[in-house]
Order: sequence, then C-alpha cells, then structure tokens
Amino acid sequence: MNAPPRSFHVKSFGCQMNAYDGTRMAELLEAEGLTAAAEIGDADLVVLNTCHIRERAAEKVYSDIGRLKRADGSTPMIAVAGCVAQAEGAEIPRRAPSVDIVVGPQAYHRLPAMVAEAATGRRALDTDMPALSKFQQLPARRRQGPSAFLTVQEGCDKFCTYCVVPYTRGAEVSRRWTQVVDEARALVDAGAREITLLGQNVNAWTGTDAAGRSGGLDRLIAELDRLPALERIRYTTSHPNDMTQGLIDAHRDVEKLMPFLHLPVQAGSDRILKAMNRSHTRDSYLRILDRVRAARPDIAVSGDFIVGFPGETDADFEQTLDLVRQVGHAQAFSFKYSPRPGTPAATMADPVPESVMDARLHMLQALIWEQATAFNQTTVGRRTRILIERNGRKPGQRIGKSPWLQSVHLETDAPIGAMVDVAIVSAGPNSVGGAAV
Ligand code: SAH
Ligand code: SF4
Ligand code: F3S
Repeated sequence: MNAPPRSFHVKSFGCQMNAYDGTRMAELLEAEGLTAAAEIGDADLVVLNTCHIRERAAEKVYSDIGRLKRADGSTPMIAVAGCVAQAEGAEIPRRAPSVDIVVGPQAYHRLPAMVAEAATGRRALDTDMPALSKFQQLPARRRQGPSAFLTVQEGCDKFCTYCVVPYTRGAEVSRRWTQVVDEARALVDAGAREITLLGQNVNAWTGTDAAGRSGGLDRLIAELDRLPALERIRYTTSHPNDMTQGLIDAHRDVEKLMPFLHLPVQAGSDRILKAMNRSHTRDSYLRILDRVRAARPDIAVSGDFIVGFPGETDADFEQTLDLVRQVGHAQAFSFKYSPRPGTPAATMADPVPESVMDARLHMLQALIWEQATAFNQTTVGRRTRILIERNGRKPGQRIGKSPWLQSVHLETDAPIGAMVDVAIVSAGPNSVGGAAV
C-alpha cells in the first residue's frame, strides 16, 4: 500500500498527442498540489504514458515498470496511461502486479480520484471512452514554453489494416470551436508564440463558430491567425483524403501558417496501399502534393513509411523508393512493419523476413537522409525568421526552428521565445546553421 503521493513524474512515449496528454496530466496533478519531481527516481507517483503503435513500443512499458523498483524493493505508486493502457487494460496488472493505476487516454481527467483510490490500497482502472468529456474537467493551461501543442481532434475512422489507433483512441471526434480558440488564447497568454494543432487526423477537424457557421481546419487556422501575439501555426498529422482545397489554400493565404506538411503515405505501391486500406493511391497522393506546392512552392514535405508490410515484394519496395525520389522529402520517418494483435494485417499471408525488412529500412533511410540533406542545402542563403526554443550545447549558442521546421543553430543572446531574423549559412542532414542579421 502507498501513502498519498506528494511528487510525481510523467514519462510520455509515442506521438505528439501523447506528449500533449502527458502535459495535461502534469497540470492536473499540480493543480491537486503535487509537485513535479526532477528525476523519475525521486517521484512518489510515476505515470508511464504509453504507446501501442509497434510491438517494441508496447513491450517497453513492462521493462520500464521493472526498472522502477527501488534498492529496498519498494516501488513508487505506478500509473500506466496512454494507448497500452487502453489496449491491454486489466492485463497490465496481471503481468506487472506493482501497477496501481491503469488509465486510458479518454479517462485521465479522473487521475486524481484514481490516485486517491490507489492510496487506500485498491487498484484503480478506467479505460472508458466518453468522447471529449475529459477536456471540460482539466485545469487551465500553464506556461508551456514558446511552442505549445493543442489537441483539437482525436481518434481515427480510417482503419488502415496495420494500425491500432482506431482501437486505442476510438472514433474521430472534433473538439468544439470555442473550446479550441479559448485554449489557444490561454496558451498565448501563457507565453506560447507557436501553436501546433494536433490530431490523429487533424485535417478531419470540423467545427461551428460563434456565429453558427461550420467549417474545417482551414477556418480554424484563419481564426487563430487573428490572435495578435501568436506568431506561428502548425498542424499534424494529416491524412491525404482529408486534405481539402481550403486547407491547401491556407498555405498560400495565411502568413502565420508555416510552410511544412507532414502527410504520411506509408508505401509507394498501389497494391500495398490497397492491402493497407489506405484509400488513396500513389498517384492521388502525388497529385495532392502538386496542388500543395502550387499554393506554397517552398513547402517542406514530411512523411511516414512502413517497410515490409505482408506481401511486399522487391518491386513494391522499389516503388516506395521511387516515390520518395519524386517527392523530395525535407524529413520522413520510416518503420519496419510490426504486426499488432487484433488488426487485419496481423493475420495476412506472406510475412516479410526480418532480414529483408532490415535491408529495406536501411536503404530507405539512406535515401531519406540524402533528401533531407539536399532540402536543407536548398535553404542555405535564405533570410528568414526563427523562433528560439532552447539553449545549445556551447555558451552563447541557441537553437531555434525555421518556418520549415529545421533546427537552426546560432550564436545570439536573444532569449528563448524570441523571434530572430537570420540568414541560413550551412546545412547538415538534421539541422542548419544560422547567423543573426
Ligand atoms: N494518423 C497518422 C499516424 C499514425 S501512427 C497517419 O495516418 O499517418 C504513426 C505512424 O506509425 C504511421 O504513419 C505509420 O507509419 C506507423 N505505424 C502505424 N502502425 C504501424 C505498424 N503496425 N507497424 C509499423 N509502423 C506502424
Ligand atoms: Fe492509423 Fe491509418 Fe488512422 Fe493513421 S489513418 S491513425 S495509420 S488507421
Ligand atoms: Fe502511440 Fe497511441 Fe500515439 S499508439 S502513436 S501513443 S495514438
């Protein structure tokens, strides 16, 4: 049995939606009078905010739980939150009896009550999915630093055959217009200069404004554009099928909307896209990018790729490489296919051997690395504005973000949160060098 905790530590894995949830859980616990412990080892309560997207990510929670055991054999109060909590529920304490709390992504507003319950020695479990009701029960936003996340949409109805998200996060739902705008205003008042609108399919967001007019993400972006102290707007992750012309046009019309688009495609072969149930083709994806580039020629394109989906042949994979060459990514994430229990792909024929997946991943990553370097080189010589986000390793060095989401290293005494005019003077695969002008 645990005494009521006085300090906590939240550790988040997975996507930005989880990072956002982790921040909100921390705000919630602070509002209850708990203090954030600097080190996980010092915390009375540890919240592991987990990810279920690939097997390695899901297994990590169990090794992390094991590592929380202290020298005297005791453990802190342990809460498992996030997508593993949603997917595995009561199975978690069966496998790891030191877990006190299991709380899903739609139920974490109840965390303080669950902590109180766990302090009486009872195990607390809540994986209910009441869409969106948690947001009304969370405390006000606190200072988040110059760049803040804001979840506007949750869940997914797309059911790609490899993916757990529709099961762990539920159906697509949009937060209300006024709620989102109020939270954005609170973040700006707390010092945010940049807001990244988040959703599993953020471009599926729809809402109705105060005047009763309904609209999509482009309308919301236009509204946020009017917040004077907000400098920059971003959004992620988008699905190709929800890429409306209105949103594409916003990249031309809204100055605060940054020229960066994360638009996952996953594979370059139509046969594999079909087996993945992606509901777009290679060609329809490329045509969307043509329209985006017509609206905003300098846009930086990012993506996600899966190699080794069941049945993927060398010829299929070659089409992925070919698509990457055509797009010219500024950055991209690539993963080996990981079969997830309960998804249709997990029982598909013709699994790709691990060694073949390794080789394909290696080839794809080398190509993406080349393209990211090439993209960064095209920006050398440009003058632009960056948002200073943190200190660099050397004294006097700061790291900021360019409009194209590049990390820019520069010497300056401008404080964190400042917007600084720079010239980009050098480029590597993961960052660029800048000089203040
Ligand atoms: N909603 C977003 C992202 C979902 S998860 C989208 O549709 O693009 C982030 C990425 O993880 C996916 O884009 C995909 O590339 C990868 N992913 C999802 N399930 C996976 C699996 N079973 N194996 C390997 N990678 C996976
Ligand atoms: Fe998963 Fe596909 Fe939904 Fe993205 S669109 S979250 S990959 S099911
Ligand atoms: Fe992972 Fe859940 Fe995000 S499975 S990627 S934390 S939606």
